[in-house]
Amino acid sequence: MATQTWDPLAYERNGSFVHALAGGVLEWLDPQPGEYVLDLGCGDGQLTRRIAESGAHVLGADASAEMIASARERGVEAEHARAEALPFRNATFDAVFSNAVLHWVRDQDAMLEQVHRVLKGSGRFVAEMGGHGNIAAIHVALVSVLEKHGLAQREKSENYFPTAESYSERLERHGFKVEQMALIPRPTRLPESGMEGWLRTFRRGVLEALPFKERETVVRETVALLEPALRDEAGNWTADYVRLRFIAKT
Ligand code: BEZ
Repeated sequence: MATQTWDPLAYERNGSFVHALAGGVLEWLDPQPGEYVLDLGCGDGQLTRRIAESGAHVLGADASAEMIASARERGVEAEHARAEALPFRNATFDAVFSNAVLHWVRDQDAMLEQVHRVLKGSGRFVAEMGGHGNIAAIHVALVSVLEKHGLAQREKSENYFPTAESYSERLERHGFKVEQMALIPRPTRLPESGMEGWLRTFRRGVLEALPFKERETVVRETVALLEPALRDEAGNWTADYVRLRFIAKT
């Protein structure tokens, strides 16, 4: 996976559904007053703040300096850190939480080793990420358009969307006991900016590798390919999201 750059304003405008739809995984986390919780990939801190409302002590961590600045502006305590190299002592947290982030992590094994290390005994890792089949139509359309611009490989290696079976095995290899694991299809209505807004926000890294004119062509052609499948008669766009949600204990 290549480095992803984030624009907090575009994320707020085109991606606010990410935290708005996180109720299920937050319920699975069930944070308790006084617990120490790490929000791994806290982004702009929206969910970190919601976890803090439970009375837990929450720290956000994110690999994007822009997102850390945005989280701190929201009053959230957050540190700039990569998931594969967490700057925290062993057995610091009761829970590690993560929403819509793990599919961006390049080295899953290094990340899982770090998460296991910073969790206390009987600690829990509660997360939701893209699962097998996530954004399948978007991915296929984008790969097909990017073939013409020599960038298909970049899209193919952008994210990791495992099956429940393979991620359970991976967690177990790192010493976790998987308590719950579910693959959940979740077609997701996009805001008014539609598929164009989604591409410009969540494929910013891929698109920025292209000169301006080519980039605009790629966006236009991808949107046109996807229109018959993901846009309804009323003009609303729905992204073909599939979530992988789990609770794993140390
Ligand atoms: C996701 O949350 O599943 C996702 C978001 C943007 C790009 C890829 C996946």
